[in-house]
Parts: sequence; structure tokens; C-alpha cells
Amino acid sequence: MSSPEMDEFVAQVRERSDIHSVVSRYVALNQRGGKYWGLCPFHNEKTPSFSVDAGKGLFYCFGCHTGGNVFKFLSLIENIGYFDAIKLQAERLGIDLPTRKLSPEQERRRREEKILFNANKLAQDFFHECLINTARGEVGRKYLAGRGITQETIETFKLGFAPDGWDNLLTTLTRRGISADQLEKVGLVKRRTDNSGYYDRFRARVMIPINDVVGRTVAFGGRILVADENSPKYLNSPESELFSKRNLLFGLDKAHLPISTVGFAIVVEGYMDAISLVAAGIKNVVATLGTAFTPEHAKLLLRYARKIVFCYDSDEAGQRATMRALPIVQEAGAQVYIVKVPEGKDPDEFIRKHGKAAFDELVANAEHLVDYQLNYVLSHVDYSSLEGKIQALQEVLPVVANVKDSVARNVYRKKISAALLLEEGIIDYEWRKFSRRSEPTEQVAVKKSFEPVDPSIMSSGEMILRRVWHDGGDLASFVTETIPLETFAKVHQEILSWLKACSDAGKHPDDLSAAEELSNEAFDELSRILLRGGDTDVADTKAFEDALKTLRRILLKKKYTAILAQAEEYMAAGNPEYIKLFDESVKVKNDLDNL
Ligand code: UTP
Ligand code: MN
Repeated sequence: MSSPEMDEFVAQVRERSDIHSVVSRYVALNQRGGKYWGLCPFHNEKTPSFSVDAGKGLFYCFGCHTGGNVFKFLSLIENIGYFDAIKLQAERLGIDLPTRKLSPEQERRRREEKILFNANKLAQDFFHECLINTARGEVGRKYLAGRGITQETIETFKLGFAPDGWDNLLTTLTRRGISADQLEKVGLVKRRTDNSGYYDRFRARVMIPINDVVGRTVAFGGRILVADENSPKYLNSPESELFSKRNLLFGLDKAHLPISTVGFAIVVEGYMDAISLVAAGIKNVVATLGTAFTPEHAKLLLRYARKIVFCYDSDEAGQRATMRALPIVQEAGAQVYIVKVPEGKDPDEFIRKHGKAAFDELVANAEHLVDYQLNYVLSHVDYSSLEGKIQALQEVLPVVANVKDSVARNVYRKKISAALLLEEGIIDYEWRKFSRRSEPTEQVAVKKSFEPVDPSIMSSGEMILRRVWHDGGDLASFVTETIPLETFAKVHQEILSWLKACSDAGKHPDDLSAAEELSNEAFDELSRILLRGGDTDVADTKAFEDALKTLRRILLKKKYTAILAQAEEYMAAGNPEYIKLFDESVKVKNDLDNL
């Protein structure tokens, strides 16, 4: 990725980015004391501890310790990679990406990709044409009409029909210049077992194009007209260069705008559920493609909204799939709700029978993740034995462990107690025990907290780093030669070594290289340090020297106690070397006193 053109491009985007106006798109900011303050978008808070320093181009939250430059902010808030954030910002500023020179291999792959996309496009046109305009498509039209699918919906989703026969698509598309080999690559045809040629994968099926997020067809789902024990109800394109199920959600190309506008996404299990809901006017819907919900899916959706509503089939399989999806979306940081479709129906059947208003009502009353999980576990308890109840309690505790609100905790405690017929006191006791056990992981979830170090090590390190950042040059070497690196807090060690490396390479450190070269934790901390410092204390030589002295003192004190301890050990063991050690300790003590 790094080339002079690219570096120049990134620097230009950074130059023209005003962090205050970028952040303002997402967070309401107020000016106070030379900085802007607002409610942190990365954790829940009621009083603002999120601050932006427009002059330095940095942000930092004093509550959750997240910080960085404009690109880091965008990548966190949009849930995209750091480089994608740069591209997004460039796009918003109207700066063109430098045209990259491709290697011959990249060039070849790009051409091939284009051909494969085109093959899918032509196939989609062929199927669609068959469905709407040919006699062979009659059965498909009847099938869809029977499911209440209108002409308009057929057009919206470009539904199609693959006629019966072994080579309809193969013949048509090869005539249009797509080779059988290329068709095989996107899974539209299969090779005969005797290797004598190819045949159409999809035959006598209603065809549902599957698009990527920008609307290019990358695969198909084909539904059989009449249930048949010998072939699957849905036949899907295999994974290919263009199609990966775990990275794709059906319908997202049409749904992403509505999802942003409405503020949440509805996830269903089947294509037909998604199509039916969209046809009824509920447009913020996507479907998984016969696969479990993945972290990649969660990430995709979180680009458009924080809230995700699951609406899987209400049968046991659908509910089990829901339970499996929940920790994934929860971990990704989504607000999660679950709709249960009554009467054992799937969303498609429900909305066709009861209409949009009834479905809206279901969504409005969606259950919160914790309630849903709790109910699920409680409805699967073996009540006949004490073991069953204890087992259920062990499954329930992780579900409620993160609930911090005391009113909500109380409600859940009562509910669990009533359901399991266990005293509230017992539940409370087990709950506390569980919370204590899971504390370390909880801390990670809440966000990194700094290693416990002597506060004066932290504040001295901070002072020194701020000065080194601003002065650059030899100061980094001077500091590392004067004070051993290990004296600093871990996170400061990383920043200091990096500043030293910058100075050794003759580079002036800036937020762009910090973002690329430092760990997340170190970049957060550097942002904090730079945001906290007034510009005056940068020039304050006395404060800098005091900070160095403090660290030296800490260092010598440590050395002194270590030598003394060793000396005492030797003395106890009758080792005469202890006298030397005592002498040495006196020297260190003198150094300390002379500081
Ligand atoms: P469902 O059987 O719930 O689909 O499978 P559906 O949409 O309700 O089907 P209809 O209403 O009978 O037409 C859910 C999803 O699982 C995948 C498909 O992605 C389907 O949409 N699936 C199902 C397959 O891939 N193959 C199958 O044979 C069945
Ligand atoms: Mn169905």
C-alpha cells in the first residue's frame, strides 16, 4: 500500500480534513476551554468526556480511553478499516485516489473478474427474460403469482426462471462470448462426470439473483417449483471468486439506505422472507443465505445502524439459530432485539396473512436480547430435577451478568427466581459469585484499563513524551540513554521507542505514522497525552527535568531495595559477599540523596 503517491494522497486528505466538522456529523460538540466536548459515541455516558482538539487534529475520550486522529475516528464510528476510512474521507472531500499501477497478474485478475461479473449479469438477464416473456416461463410466473409476488417485486429483485433442459443457459451464454470454463467458475454450469462437456446447474427453478452491496449479481438461489424429496428446495451457486456467503447478506444492496434512515436492520433467514417483507413496504431487511450469522455479517450491518432486529423462523431450528447469532452481534457492539413470529409462521407467511401494520407491531414489541435469551433458557429447563435447575442457572448467569442497571437486575432476579423456584437470595449469591469470576473478561469488554502503575511514573512519562513529540530530534535518544526504557509504563515504552525510531530515521513524528505504526492502545494513549498538554508546558524545561528526575528517583529506589534484599539474603546464608552489596547500596543511597 505504501508508495510515494499513496503517502502523498494520505497526507493531502489528512491536511484537508477538519476533525471538528468530521466528528460533528456524528457527535454534538460544544466548545469549552479551547477544545470541543461531547458525549462519547464509543461508550455510554451522560456527561461529556469526549474531546476534540481541532488544532492538533486529535480526539480522546477520558471515559473509555479511546483516541486518535480523524481517520481512526471514522474507522471506529463507521466500523471500517483504517485505510477504508481514509478512502471514505477522500471521497467526501472529493479527492481522487491515486491511480495505482497494477502488476500484470493484478491486471489479469481484474480482467477476469470483469468477465465473471458480466457472465452473472448476462445469466440474470437470460433468466429474467425467460420468466417474464417466454412460454417456458409460464410455470415460474404461476408459481410466483401463487405466492403473492407481484410484477413490481419481480422487477425490483430481477427474479427469473431457469427453464428445464440441460444446456439452455450454456448455449445462450457461450454464443455471447462467455466460455464454459468461465461459467463453471461462477457455478452456473457443471462439468459432466465423464468430462465430455458441461451442463446447466439450474434447471426448472425460479431464480433469485444474489447481489453484492453495490448491486452486482454474484450468485443465484434457485427454488424448486414443487417440493421433491430427491432435490433440495433451494439450490445455490457455490462459493466463487465473486461470492462468499459469510461476507454477504441478501438484499443489502437495496436495504442499506433504508437501514440508515430507519435506524435498524431486520435480519431474516430466507430469501422469500426478505422479498415478501420488501414487497409489503418493509425495506430495511436482509437475509442470510442458508448459513449461520457471522461476525462479518454483523460488521456489514453495523456500518449502517447500531440496532439489529432478528426475525428468524419461530420453529426450534430458527430459535436455535437465533441463540447462536446473538453472542456474535453482541460482541460486535450491536443493540440486539428479537421478533418472534406467532403461530409458528415465518415472516413471509405472517406478513402475507396479517399485513404490514401487524408486522410493524411485532417489530415495535421486539424482545431485548437479555429477555429473549433468558426466556429461551428458561423454556428449555428440565424442571423435574434439581440438577436441571442448577444447570439452567449456570446458563442464565452469563446472559444477565452484564446487566448493570439495578432496577433491571431486580426484575431479572425475580423472574429467574419465579421460573426456577429458587429463592432470590440464592440467585443473588450465585450471580455475585459469577460476576466476580468473570471480572477480568468484563474489564476487557468495558474497554482496556491501564495496567496499575505508580501514578508518578505515568505522569512523568506523559510529560517526557509530550516534550519529545514536540522537540523530536536528539531528545528521544537523550531520554532513552538517561532513563532505561523499562522504567516507563509499558504503553509509554512503546511510544518512546517509536519516537526514537522516528528520530533515528530523520522523520518528524505525526499522527498518520502514529496511526499506522503504533498499537491501538499506544495511539489512544498518545492522543490523550497530546490532548491534555497545554502548549505552555511543552516549553517548560523545568517540568521536563523534574519528570526525568522523578523517574531516576524511582529507578534508584528500586535498585536500592533490590540490592538490600540481596545483601540480606547473602548475610543470612553466611555469604561474605554481602559486605560488597552493602557498600554498593550506600552508593546508590548517596546518588538518591544527591538527586
Ligand atoms: P427456508 O426453508 O426457511 O426458506 O430456508 P423459505 O424462504 O421459508 O422457503 P420457502 O418459503 O419455502 O420458499 C431458509 C433459507 O435456507 C436456505 C435458503 O437460503 C433459504 O432461503 N436453504 C433452504 C437452502 O439453501 N437450501 C435448501 O434446500 C433450503
Ligand atoms: Mn417460507
